[in-house]
Amino acid sequence: MPIKTIIEPFRIKSIEPIRRTTRDERQQILEAAHYNVFLIDSRDILIDLLTDSGTGAMSTEQWAALMRGDESYAGSPSFGRFRDSVQSVFGFKHVIPTHQGRAAERILFSTVCKPGDVVPNNSHFDTTRANIEFVGAEALDLPIPEAAEFSRPHPFKGNMDVTKLKDTIERLGKSRVPLVMLTVTNNAGGGQPVSLANIREVKAVCKHHDIPLYIDACRFAENAYFIKQREENYSNKTPREIAREIFSLADGCTMSAKKDGLANIGGFLCTNNDVLAQQERDLLILTEGFPTYGGLAGRDLDAIAVGLNEVLDEDYLHYRIVSTAYLGEHIAREGVPIVQPPGGHAIYIDARAFLPHIPPLEFPGVALAAELYLEGGIRSVEIGTLMFAKRDENGLEVEGPMDLLRLAVPRRVYTQSHIDYVVEVILEVWRRRESIRGLALTYQAPFLRHFTARFKRKHA
Ligand code: F0G
Repeated sequence: MPIKTIIEPFRIKSIEPIRRTTRDERQQILEAAHYNVFLIDSRDILIDLLTDSGTGAMSTEQWAALMRGDESYAGSPSFGRFRDSVQSVFGFKHVIPTHQGRAAERILFSTVCKPGDVVPNNSHFDTTRANIEFVGAEALDLPIPEAAEFSRPHPFKGNMDVTKLKDTIERLGKSRVPLVMLTVTNNAGGGQPVSLANIREVKAVCKHHDIPLYIDACRFAENAYFIKQREENYSNKTPREIAREIFSLADGCTMSAKKDGLANIGGFLCTNNDVLAQQERDLLILTEGFPTYGGLAGRDLDAIAVGLNEVLDEDYLHYRIVSTAYLGEHIAREGVPIVQPPGGHAIYIDARAFLPHIPPLEFPGVALAAELYLEGGIRSVEIGTLMFAKRDENGLEVEGPMDLLRLAVPRRVYTQSHIDYVVEVILEVWRRRESIRGLALTYQAPFLRHFTARFKRKHA
C-alpha cells in the first residue's frame, strides 16, 4: 500500500520557542488590547495565524544566500540575481524592486491612475484598494457570483465575472479604465484560485479594448498548483510552466515577496512598457531607493531570488495546499462554517454563520478572533465589517459584505501538531458559541481602521 501521510518536506534546523500563557493572563491581555488582536504583543501569542505575509521560515539555501548579499548602492550583483530569478518565472521586461507589495501598488497606481478612473479586479486586497482610492480612483470588485456562496464549493471561486467586466468597460469607456487586475489567489475572497481559462477570457476583453492586464501575484505559486490539480489539461504541467503561462497573458504585475517569495520582506513591480518603467523608476528613486535595490538590502534581494524558485517545488506546494486544507476539513466536519473549498494560504470561518446571534454591526469576526485568543492564544484576523468600514450616504456605519475570520498559515513554520491544537481550540469555542457576545467600537482611525480600532464588550 502506498504511504498516504503527508509530511512537512523539511526538517527543523533552528527553533524559536513559543510561550504559553494562562487563561487569566490572556483575559487581561485581551482587555488591555481593547479586544483587537492587532494590539497584542507577539510574545503573548502561542500560534500566530494573523497573516502568511513575511512570517514564513527561510531555507538553508536562503540563509546562505543572505551571506552572498552585496550591499553596493548601485549595480549590486544581488540585484542581477534577483532580476534573473524574477524574469525566469514572470517573464516581464522590467523588474522594479520595492520594499513590499504596497509600495509596488502605490508606484503603479500613482503613475497610471487619475481621479475618476476605475480599476476592476476579482477582489482588491485592502492595501490595493486604499492605494487606488488614495489617487482618487475607484477600486471595483467583480468576483463571480459563486464567490458569495461560502458553503458551496467551486474549483475556481477566485474567477472574475467576465460579463460584468465587459459591461463596466463599455459603460465607462476605455479612457476611464487604465488597467484591469486579477489577484491570484484571491485573498479577500477566501484564498481561492483563478483559472487559466478565466485569465485568458479577461485578457481577451482587455486586448479588445487595449487595456493592460496586471496580476496581483502575491500567491502565484499556490494558484498555479490549484490549476495543476483542478483545471483540465494542466495535470502534466509543472507549477513553473503554469506560472509562466499565467504571466505570459499579463502586461505587468505587482508582487509581495512576503508571500510566495518565501521571504520576510520585499516585493516588486513588473511591466513590459518601457515608458511606464521609466516613470515608475523615477518615482521609486523618490521614495524607495535606487532601481537596483528599491528599499531592500542586497541580502533581501538574494533571499527572494532563491525563494521564488523554492516556492515552485511540487513537494512544497503539495504539502502547503494539503496542510491548509487539513485545518479546514477538520473543523468543517464538526460543523464549523468555512468558505468552501479551503483556500491556499488560509481558512476563512464564516463568522456570521458561526455567531448568528451577533449582528454584523457588533463585529462577529472580531468577537470570534478575541475568543480564539482567549481559549488558546491563537491570533487570527477579521475580514468583515471592521475591515471594510462601509458607510451610507448619511455617514452611518453599515455592515460589510461579509464577516469572515481568516486563519492564515505562515509558510514552513507550524507542524501538524500545532494545527491539531488549533483545531481543538476552534472546536472548543464552537461548542460554547452561544455564550459569546458582540463588541462595540470605542475608537477608530479615519482609514484602515482595523489595525488600531478599540472595542468594549456588549453586555449580555
Ligand atoms: N495584495 C494582496 C493580495 C495581499 O494579500 C497583500 C498583503 C498585498 C497585496 C500587499 O502586500 O503586505 O507586502 O504590502 N497581504 C497581507 C495579508 C498583509 O495579511 O494578507 P504587502
